[in-house]
Amino acid sequence: MFHPLRVSEVEQLTDDSVAVTFAVPPELRETFRHTPGQHLALRRRSAGGEEVRRTYSICSPAAPEGEDPVLRVGIRLVDGGEFSTYALKELVVGDTVEVMEPMGRFLLPPRPGHFAAVVGGSGITPVLSMASTLLAREPEARFCLIRSDRTAASTMFLEEVADLKDRFPDRFQLVTVLSREEQQSGLPSGRLDQERLTALLPALLPVADVDGWYLCGPFGLVIGAERALRGMGVERGRIHQEIFHVDDGSAPAAARTASAPAPAHATLTATLDGRSGTWPVQEGESLLETVLRSRSDAPYACKGGVCGTCRAFVVTGEVRMDRNYALESEETDAGYVLACQSHPVTPEVELDFDR
Ligand code: FES
Repeated sequence: MFHPLRVSEVEQLTDDSVAVTFAVPPELRETFRHTPGQHLALRRRSAGGEEVRRTYSICSPAAPEGEDPVLRVGIRLVDGGEFSTYALKELVVGDTVEVMEPMGRFLLPPRPGHFAAVVGGSGITPVLSMASTLLAREPEARFCLIRSDRTAASTMFLEEVADLKDRFPDRFQLVTVLSREEQQSGLPSGRLDQERLTALLPALLPVADVDGWYLCGPFGLVIGAERALRGMGVERGRIHQEIFHVDDGSAPAAARTASAPAPAHATLTATLDGRSGTWPVQEGESLLETVLRSRSDAPYACKGGVCGTCRAFVVTGEVRMDRNYALESEETDAGYVLACQSHPVTPEVELDFDR
């Protein structure tokens, strides 16, 4: 459910990115308490009356119980992106934005241990919340951040990350790789790919002893890092990933589920917020679109298989997904699908959005 929140701060981070902070009224304090790694779906109506939704990760540390949550998201300008253009060019303090409660399962709740992240570009955003919360709350925990960007000037949250280094010099390890700029650290410039990470990671930290790996950023970087880690024997269960951008041209076969013939007529029953309905599925539409025709409160943000907001449990029947960059294999094995990417395979399908 969306709530109108007042913008309390807009801070320019780089030429093409801002951090936006929302004021949370006391009655919504618990609704907006987040776990590090979660994101917010934001909604606005364009001048033409069309609804635009986007998800942005929360960069602020999670507030301990009893303290007011600070809701701050990082937004980077995307070419032609309607919401990010609005955020960078128009949004000012005092404006109201519709904001959904924190969501997402790319999480690092504070716990003792050694954690590491490989991030690219704006992929730093959720990881900043993870690292800052973890280091402040768990005196024994350690965090290694390997980040890549184009140039120092284009790197988001430079100051916040430097601040972590100052506050936790023994427990926070930082490695920055710039792809288009020489740097003083001795690391050569160039992209962080599987080959480079395979050489770099064992030199930085004891790979096998890391309790959780967090990979976030563009598709190529996340998949390259996952392959490098798997190649070094890291179990699948210790690797968590969130993909921020998918270039449609490079949509990988691995993210697509096998195609299956669609039935001539199919009906969908869906439960949402405790209420159920049954509707015919029109040709070519996704199950999310079927639900949205009658229930405008159906959860979604990206409609692209990336954010996971539209996750639903298949109670009966079978569906196929066009693509899936959001759900882990354990979730799909357990029966969860992305409604925005799902089409019926059986004549009757039942989805539960509440599970
Ligand atoms: S709405 Fe984002 S994955 Fe379906």
